[in-house]
Amino acid sequence: MRRPGASVSCWTIHPSPMLPCVALMNAIPPERFLMQARIQPLNSTHERGAFRCGHAELDRWLAEVAGQHQLKDLSRTFVLASLAEPDKILGFYSLATSEIPTGNFPPGLARKRPRVIPVARMGRLAVDGASQGKGYGETLLLDALKRVESLSASIGINAVVVDAKDDDAARFYSRYGFTPLSHHPLTLVMPLTLVRQLGS
Ligand SMILES: CC(C)(COP(=O)(O)OP(=O)(O)OC[C@H]1O[C@@H](n2cnc3c(N)ncnc32)[C@H](O)[C@@H]1OP(=O)(O)O)[C@@H](O)C(=O)NCCC(=O)NCCS
Repeated sequence: MRRPGASVSCWTIHPSPMLPCVALMNAIPPERFLMQARIQPLNSTHERGAFRCGHAELDRWLAEVAGQHQLKDLSRTFVLASLAEPDKILGFYSLATSEIPTGNFPPGLARKRPRVIPVARMGRLAVDGASQGKGYGETLLLDALKRVESLSASIGINAVVVDAKDDDAARFYSRYGFTPLSHHPLTLVMPLTLVRQLGS
């Protein structure tokens, strides 16, 4: 079995086109590629204290909690860094398992599902302020979805749930096909069937 921390994915970062859904990684023409970067599990070399995304709570979580959660197997955090400055965190996301009552699901998504379903939860996603607007948030989101899709071959995961900090963040997720839960507009869901379209 591969240890946590052993997997590394490499991405070429690009400015994103306006596309309504997630199935876009192969659609980016190579001439738009700007920077070689890497998404990898958070480790002790990453400079967690220097990250500032505009939400102090998210900064603090990365600096003080993410490592602890990793040690205690409560969540996994993945960070984006350029190959030139591998210790500087440009962005990150965290993943954990969770379950949610299907009663909260948007109409249509809960059909023929049990009362409670297993989900992957992306509790946090953030990009450093100086690096926002360059496509990194989208790249991190796509990486998280691909990772969950891959995990779903080994464990039951019916959907991906994200927790948006505010309405602005919820709009970011909506743009990629996430739908708000009934009565919980800052919690959004994407069924695995939609996530799988990433790879097709
Ligand atoms: C939300 C966040 C992760 C987006 O990351 P980013 O790197 O700035 O976004 P990207 O450059 O990848 O944007 C991709 C596309 O989404 C759009 N977008 C970015 N933020 C958006 C928002 N809040 N609402 C709607 N669309 C948004 C961009 O305009 C871009 O579209 P385009 O290709 O048509 O120009 C980042 O702004 C951030 O860290 N914010 C603070 C923390 C936060 O709110 N986290 C989210 C939930 S906890």
